Amino acid sequence: MPSTPSPLESAEARAEFVRSHTVLEPVPMVAEIRLHTATELVPIWRATENWLVERGLGVPFWCVPWAGGQALARYVLEHPETVRGKRVLDFGTGSGLLAIAAAKAGAASVRAVDVDPLAIAACTLNAAANAVVIDALCEDVVDGDPEADVVLAGDVWYELGASARFAKWLRAISERGIRVLTGDPGRHYVPSNARELAVYDVPTSMELESSKSRRSRVLELLPIPSSSRDDTPSRPADE
Ligand SMILES: C[S@@+](CC[C@H](N)C(=O)[O-])C[C@H]1O[C@@H](n2cnc3c(N)ncnc32)[C@H](O)[C@@H]1O
Repeated sequence: MPSTPSPLESAEARAEFVRSHTVLEPVPMVAEIRLHTATELVPIWRATENWLVERGLGVPFWCVPWAGGQALARYVLEHPETVRGKRVLDFGTGSGLLAIAAAKAGAASVRAVDVDPLAIAACTLNAAANAVVIDALCEDVVDGDPEADVVLAGDVWYELGASARFAKWLRAISERGIRVLTGDPGRHYVPSNARELAVYDVPTSMELESSKSRRSRVLELLPIPSSSRDDTPSRPADE
């Protein structure tokens, strides 16, 4: 007997799920961008838990703008020359926040990637709500050769294995001349060899971060000099 199809199997069903579980709200640190945002996290996490577990995915990251992403989006809008006229890849897009910021700041083209199909649904809806064009793809591009001048990675340094993999790949592409910027609020596995470009105090919720604000850094990942080639994220938590 064919199994009952999951209610989230089609793109339209995923879009409807995002619409019906969120409200369109300005991002606290980036009020010029509005995102489909969960007002309460527990109901949306419960509603997606089984679907996410079946696919080996974590929590529904797309339903809030994360502190590191907010800092990096603020930086991109305050420094549009970072992306203006360039091909931008938003890696680990979640809600699409960085992709939208890059498009608003004048990027020539913006691709957003995530491994969670619901993130792609949210990113697509959020792009439309902010009147920007984004090419959103559900794909694991790590270890690939992105056609980009700038990669933005907002708040992706929270798991040891994944962070080591991301850091190795992002350093490799930065050695090939692609600029790699990340936003980080002091997660455990942020790479250490990076140049600090800006620091922002980002408003957050007690529910999400156990704090009303997180100091978040905008960092540029640097290619490691060949004498000290160790890509392992090593910085302990600042929490
Ligand atoms: C904490 S969220 C950050 C979302 C957004 N950048 C922000 O700052 O609000 C991290 C995102 O990375 C995505 N992710 C994890 N592994 C990934 C991979 N290998 N490729 C692409 N995205 C990935 C997750 O699904 C999640 O949406």
